[in-house]
Parts: sequence; structure tokens; C-alpha cells
Amino acid sequence: MQANNNFETVLSDYTNNKSYLTHQELISLKSQFDSEQSFYDALLKWVSEYAIAPVSQFKVAALAIESGGEGRLFFGANLEFSHQALSLVVHAEQSAIHNALLHGVEAIEKLVINASPCGYCRQFINEIQLEKQPLINVHGVEKTIQQYLPDAFGPSDLDNHTPLFSQSLTQCRDLNAYVEQSYAPYSGNFSACQIKHVDGHQYFGVYLENAAYSPSLSPLQAALNQVQLHNRQTGLHGISEIVIKQTAGKANQQGVANAVAMSLGSNIEVTIEEV
Ligand code: THU
Ligand code: ZN
Repeated sequence: MQANNNFETVLSDYTNNKSYLTHQELISLKSQFDSEQSFYDALLKWVSEYAIAPVSQFKVAALAIESGGEGRLFFGANLEFSHQALSLVVHAEQSAIHNALLHGVEAIEKLVINASPCGYCRQFINEIQLEKQPLINVHGVEKTIQQYLPDAFGPSDLDNHTPLFSQSLTQCRDLNAYVEQSYAPYSGNFSACQIKHVDGHQYFGVYLENAAYSPSLSPLQAALNQVQLHNRQTGLHGISEIVIKQTAGKANQQGVANAVAMSLGSNIEVTIEEV
């Protein structure tokens, strides 16, 4: 069955400044489709329009389905920055995983993506505790992370026995509390970011490190991605203030934060506070 026009209207309504679907919303939307996969495909297409990809024009969408708990479905989309190093990009899979974590999800049951996960994302996903690894669904074919990334290098290689999702986050909307709950087992640079928007909303991002270091998600990238996922029409426009709080004397968020803020093309001031 073809999704009717109603699908997008209802979705726009459900996701007004909200980066996920509740279980009820999920059930009601799914009922418009003949199969679960046709629902995922339609939703991926819709979520891909959250992507900001000025460099590649390649819009990636990811859906993270909560295991147990409230049974919510979290969105993820890629974020690129014009005139900046390509390495600053946020991948859709990172986006969906951070979005779920930030909202208190204890485990992700399934990660549905509209393109095969790249090596960088496979490594990012590999940071998740083994028992909580999501099934990865690409065009209806479901595989485990072990299938996607055999002979992996991961947290245990660095003697980290409390990998990502060992602990779930408490939703607090408080920068200090997010700093404490950030995931920085390798550098000790616990950090989080708060972004204030001209419309009065506030967005948060928590730092998520990786055993291989490079697929780590910085708190600013994470918070900007939250702005994007909450503002389908306006994207990153309307940011009035960025505050980053981090553990003093460790690895540092300042350089990358200034570079990213500069690429937003306005005079947004970045404040760095230390704890
Ligand atoms: N991309 C993702 O978001 N996930 C993947 O695993 C594949 C690549 C994004 C990154 C970049 O914004 C664009 O797709 C082209 O690589
Ligand atoms: Zn990727």
C-alpha cells in the first residue's frame, strides 16, 4: 500500500520540535502500511530531509528503535559543514545513537539505515556494549555488528569494561549533569554542550568517545545535530549561544568548537567553561 499524503502531514505534526516518535505515534503511522519495511522505507525518506549535506548532497537517514522501555523511534541524519575539514561531519548513525542516548534509552533494538554503514560508523557502533548491540537493517537485510565488522578493535582492547550504553543517561536538561554523564573513558575530557536558540528552545549534546578515537562525537557536533533534528524547516539557523563545559586539563574541545562555529557563517560566540 502506498502511503497517503496524510503520512507526511501527521509526521510533521508529531515531530514539531521533537526528534523521535512515541510508541503510540509509531503504531499509528505503521498501520498505514502493508509491511514493516515499507513503513521504514517511507520514514527513512522523510527523515533524510533532516540531513544537511552542502558538500556531498548525499542525505543519509537512520532510525534507532528503542528496545523495551517506552518503545520510541529516534531519528538520525548526517550533518556536513561547508568550507571545513570533512572529518567534522556527523554521520546519520552517530546522530541516531546520540539522539537515543540523550533521551534516556537503555538499549537500541534495531538501527534502520538507508545506506550501508561506512567503516567509521561500524567502528562507532562497535563501541556499544555487546549485549546491547542493535541489529542493523539496510534495505530490509538485517545483520549484526560482528557481520559488518569482524575482528574488531574495541573498548576491551583498551581495558575499558564499561563501554557505551553500559549506563543510560538521565534526561535532565542541565549542562553540568550532562557533563557528568558524558562518555569519555579514554581521555577523561568529560564534556557536554548547550545551544540556545532564538525561539527560546535549548538543545544539548554529550561527548561520545570511541576506542579508535577518530569516530568520537564531539559535544558541539552532537548538540548542533540536535538543533537540526528538532528544526526540520530551519536547520541550524537561529542559534544564539553555544556553551561547552568540559573537564579542565584534559583533551580539549575548544579548537574544534571554534572551527565548527566559524563555519556556521555567523558571529555566534562560543563560551568554554571548565569543571
Ligand atoms: N554518511 C553517513 O551519514 N553514514 C554512512 O555510514 C555513510 C556516509 C554521510 C557522511 C557524509 O555526510 C555523506 O554521507 C557522504 O559520505
Ligand atoms: Zn558512516
